[in-house]
Amino acid sequence: MKFTSTVLAALVATSLVVALHAQVKERPIPRIVKKDGRFALLVDGAPYLVLGGQVHNSSTWPAMLPKVWPAMEDLNVNTVEMPIYWEQFEPRPGQYDYTTIDTVLTQARQHHVRLVLLWFGTWKNGSQHYMPEWMKLAPDRYPHLVDKNGQAVDSPSPFAAASLEADKTAFTAFMRHLKKADPERTVIMVQVENEAGTWGTLRDYSPAAQKLFTSPVPRDMLDAMQVTSSASSPNWQEAFGPEAEVCFHAWSVAKYVGQVAAAGKAVYPLPLYANAALRDPLKPGAPGSYESGGPTDNVLAIWKVAAPALDILAPDIYTNDPAAYLKVLELYHRDDNPLFVPETGGAANARFLFSALGLQAIGFSPFGMDYTRGQDTGPGSRQPDEFLAWAMSYRLIGPMQREIARLNFEGKLQAVAEEEGRATEILPFGSWNAEVTFGAARRGSTPAANPAPAVRMLVAQLADNQFLVTGYDCRIDFRPTGTEQQRKSQHIIPGTDETPSALIDGKWQHRQFLRLEQVTWENGAFKHVRTWGGRGGETNGLYFGEAPVVLRVSLTTY
Ligand code: DGJ
Repeated sequence: MKFTSTVLAALVATSLVVALHAQVKERPIPRIVKKDGRFALLVDGAPYLVLGGQVHNSSTWPAMLPKVWPAMEDLNVNTVEMPIYWEQFEPRPGQYDYTTIDTVLTQARQHHVRLVLLWFGTWKNGSQHYMPEWMKLAPDRYPHLVDKNGQAVDSPSPFAAASLEADKTAFTAFMRHLKKADPERTVIMVQVENEAGTWGTLRDYSPAAQKLFTSPVPRDMLDAMQVTSSASSPNWQEAFGPEAEVCFHAWSVAKYVGQVAAAGKAVYPLPLYANAALRDPLKPGAPGSYESGGPTDNVLAIWKVAAPALDILAPDIYTNDPAAYLKVLELYHRDDNPLFVPETGGAANARFLFSALGLQAIGFSPFGMDYTRGQDTGPGSRQPDEFLAWAMSYRLIGPMQREIARLNFEGKLQAVAEEEGRATEILPFGSWNAEVTFGAARRGSTPAANPAPAVRMLVAQLADNQFLVTGYDCRIDFRPTGTEQQRKSQHIIPGTDETPSALIDGKWQHRQFLRLEQVTWENGAFKHVRTWGGRGGETNGLYFGEAPVVLRVSLTTY
């Protein structure tokens, strides 16, 4: 056999990579676990909190990466979410190009961040725009779905057997490569497709789809959606009435995505999730007013049963309405679903990371966080204030994210963001209540909300009488727990220097700070910086401004 110099070079490079991998100690595969009704994402065997940033759609090209990493550094992320494009990965049928994946693996490691990779396969925002060209050129074999009038729509058919087979095969090749190339577990989770579903029509109306739509609904779907119908084997219309088309399409799409996920998971069982373009959580519009077929809040049960290989159904939250934002978090925080927000936006929404933490979120990630569109100008570019809002939270939590994730998994953490018109919050922790006053209220004599809510704060119980406390723009104090009618005052009255007290077993008990330690988290432990003891925002309530301050608070009573 004759070796050309190119072949020899390739062989040497391959054996170097293999040798290098042989030297890397294989770490445990990341996984999602559940204990006492709470979830954790385990990375290297311990709970991990994704403080993420997702790049723009077309940023995972080697030439673009230099504009990604500086943005991620500015954001203080620990995890970068990046698409992998099917069309780039499989330029010709069965021929895989691993260069992009290998490049991002190497560069992520150099930048000391983990990755969540997004498989832009059959669906990207309801369309098939990232399918390889050889598929786009063969629409008879890889068909679009058709609308009521028999017209092809810019969305793939979930009944296209050849597309499903091709996606399963390519996704499996991708996962197999990750397994081999990533013993360090730089990649901690994979998104399967992107906002799968359809815009512009409610479902596929092809003959194959029509036949199924008028057939009996599978029993597991009826059970999942708790359908009680007078017909013993109802078809979709009989079972779901006005939501029939959306439910049918959700089932069709979820079955397809679930099979792609299962095929990949069989070779490399990383945590997998699907993301959703949402419907309005407070005033849901009629079917057709939102993307049909994706894991919207009304069909989560369908997706759970039809796609069991997916560990998470995750909301992409772009609303500017705080009440709607909080409602979405609630809807996706379910007993069968860890809360993970893979996409969000809007500087004012940055504070909701803390609301999500209050619901044991395993991660959060704003979208479009890179400098590929210019640093401060141009359409869709990131503005410095938007970076800042996220960067502030990540700077505060980032260094101790492992500890935060552990405390949250153990049910010891509560976190909140300021809500419109709300100036106080009480967080109960057994024999202590943490009492929080927001923004302006922390200095004045009357509780008053901020004109623009910005507060984020977090309290975690480290021991019976010891707490970890951190936040921005708020005042926190602790009151021993008495019964409601025995409490001396309902609210902290800021500025009055009241020591929080409570009547317990007929005796007034007053909060005493035993020790107030400002700490940092270094090398897996809290490190003492200084002890607080003065007034003016130290022992007369704990005042947090805009500097990242973390306190370990030890309490007693007198
Ligand atoms: C939601 C999609 O999932 C993302 O890929 C991206 O296109 C954003 N919308 C843009 O706002």
